Amino acid sequence: MKPVEKYGNVAWVAGSPIDHSLSPVIHNSAFEGAGLPHQYFAIEVKPEELTDFVGNLQSMGMIGANFTLPLKNAVCEVVEDQTPAVETIGAANTLFRRNSGEFALDNTDVYGFEKLVEPWGERIRSEPVLILGAGGASRACLFALDRLNCPRIYLWNRTRESAQTLSEQYPYDITVLSDSELSEGEFEAGVVVNTTSLGLNESDGSPFPEQQIRDDMVGVDLIYNRETKFVQDFGEYGSDSIGGLGMLVHQAAGAWKRWFDTTPNVDIMKQAALDYLQDDQ
Ligand code: ATR
Repeated sequence: MKPVEKYGNVAWVAGSPIDHSLSPVIHNSAFEGAGLPHQYFAIEVKPEELTDFVGNLQSMGMIGANFTLPLKNAVCEVVEDQTPAVETIGAANTLFRRNSGEFALDNTDVYGFEKLVEPWGERIRSEPVLILGAGGASRACLFALDRLNCPRIYLWNRTRESAQTLSEQYPYDITVLSDSELSEGEFEAGVVVNTTSLGLNESDGSPFPEQQIRDDMVGVDLIYNRETKFVQDFGEYGSDSIGGLGMLVHQAAGAWKRWFDTTPNVDIMKQAALDYLQDDQ
């Protein structure tokens, strides 16, 4: 275990808004379960306050920190030492210390996604994957899929230009789909991943046309706060479907690994998140 104690007992998640972050619940339950005295707090930090916040962390001491919207990109301008994932994606969610004590950034959403899709690893290595959405989450998935040796990626986004730009920024085999190519099924995919925010609200539909779901397709939705229409549709017409809670928990586990060089109890983390979501309904 890293000698984090000399940097204090506190970890943070910073963002704006931050009220509904599940990270304190997830990390504090794991700290408690491991009998550690550490505490994890959420703190409201606006982009214009970010440089001061990181500077204060240096002087206050900390185990580590997480960043959420709208700071994931901005923090890359503040901390220079970045893992290859952060350099490629241009976004980070985890601040940790090198053994030297210096700050560095990682993107553990990549690890979270890899763990989420682990049950379909063989299919991802041998069949194309379709990604819906071209925002920050999509970038992390693209990086992870390359690491998982996915042979080919199809990418669709509501705003096609963003998907085009993203496909040009990544050196992978990415085919951008138009709306009609998506609705007419002009793609191949064993696994379909929803990274869009469509599904966050109860009344939302699915970005993927129901009639294109084959009975051997897997639907993976990164949304974790409810069972989305996307997940329901794949549950009904596909072979398997899963929501994003596992990714949320495993990105937290990835941060923990960076901070302590050990693996937390992810079952405790997941149960704490489930309890919180249930109480929140
Ligand atoms: P995140 O960091 O979670 O990826 P983001 O960077 O804001 O969030 O990206 C949101 C994604 O959801 C984008 O791909 C967005 O599409 P646009 O680029 O066209 O905005 C997508 N999205 C948001 N609302 C959507 C909707 N109603 N239908 C389809 N896609 C939607």
